[in-house]
Amino acid sequence: MRQLSCTNAAVNENTQKRRVGTDQLILTGGRSIRSWIRHRVTQALPSPLARTLKWVRSRGRGRLSAEARWQIFDRISPHMSMVDPLYEWLLESGMLDSAESLFSIGPGDGRLELRLAKNFGLTVGYAEPTVAFRDSLEASADAAGLTNRIVERQEGPYKPRRLTRRYDLILSSGSWYAAGYDRGTLDQTLSALTPNGVLIIALSSCDDFFMTERITRPTVMTAEDLAHWLGNQGVEHEVHRVERRVSNDLLLESGQLTELARDVLSFYTLRHWYKVPSRDRDRLKASLFRNKERGFFTRVRGLVVLYKSRQTYVVHV
Ligand SMILES: C[S@@+](CC[C@H](N)C(=O)[O-])C[C@H]1O[C@@H](n2cnc3c(N)ncnc32)[C@H](O)[C@@H]1O
Repeated sequence: MRQLSCTNAAVNENTQKRRVGTDQLILTGGRSIRSWIRHRVTQALPSPLARTLKWVRSRGRGRLSAEARWQIFDRISPHMSMVDPLYEWLLESGMLDSAESLFSIGPGDGRLELRLAKNFGLTVGYAEPTVAFRDSLEASADAAGLTNRIVERQEGPYKPRRLTRRYDLILSSGSWYAAGYDRGTLDQTLSALTPNGVLIIALSSCDDFFMTERITRPTVMTAEDLAHWLGNQGVEHEVHRVERRVSNDLLLESGQLTELARDVLSFYTLRHWYKVPSRDRDRLKASLFRNKERGFFTRVRGLVVLYKSRQTYVVHV
């Protein structure tokens, strides 16, 4: 297990690159000026027309819907998911020796969670807002005879206050950005751990290829950003990292970006392929060309680990 090498300087540099657009000008009540105007105009129209307008507007900008984005994620995952390195890390950590229960925030298709349920007899709870992922997870659990291991389901965004049990492990793999820098969510999540429980938050590291090559939006929360915030909050935590090498050829073939590379660009820029800015395509191509000799690039995830027993502040129950 290696500690993360990124320094706070890297986080600060990352932070400085962030730009504030009109959409981020916040009115009282948390709504942006643009979305407020859009809301007022749309509310004045009959609902089918309003829906059509909304659809045309989103297509015009080439924005991916959440469902479309997760469909793309499903296609990318088999080639460069970080689930296997995370599983190996969990095995090595020894945490699984004593754990009996796991709650997963945003398990996706639940591959990791069901593997843990099968190999270590863990009971599993989850919060998953994406219907297709929930369906896939439940179908896999059914096929593997593991349905009775699933003890809690939140069919929507994660709501820590609504948890009905305590867990030995709470895992958020690639989903903590939805909670953001929210002390309430963090404290409530820590409250849902058993006395020796552990919260593991896995996020892309600033050393991840797609981060260093600026394919991922600079506003995306990295493990280092979260660790930096936790440090400022005085919350004790450890940071580890897991890596995976991915063959360059998966994204670049005969000098051209592959279908998979297009999916990657769509996923990270949140746009349909035909709306991905050419500078993003060029940047990815140039990075892959630079990497050609080596033949691979490295995906890096930071694991931010919080032990309930080491928390020195009062956790509200
Ligand atoms: C990048 S995927 C990660 C999937 C899987 N954990 C993995 O590591 O491969 C993010 C997941 O978080 C889920 N998600 C998004 N917002 C969420 C929220 N507010 N609460 C819980 N899960 C959320 C998505 O539906 C998706 O399954």
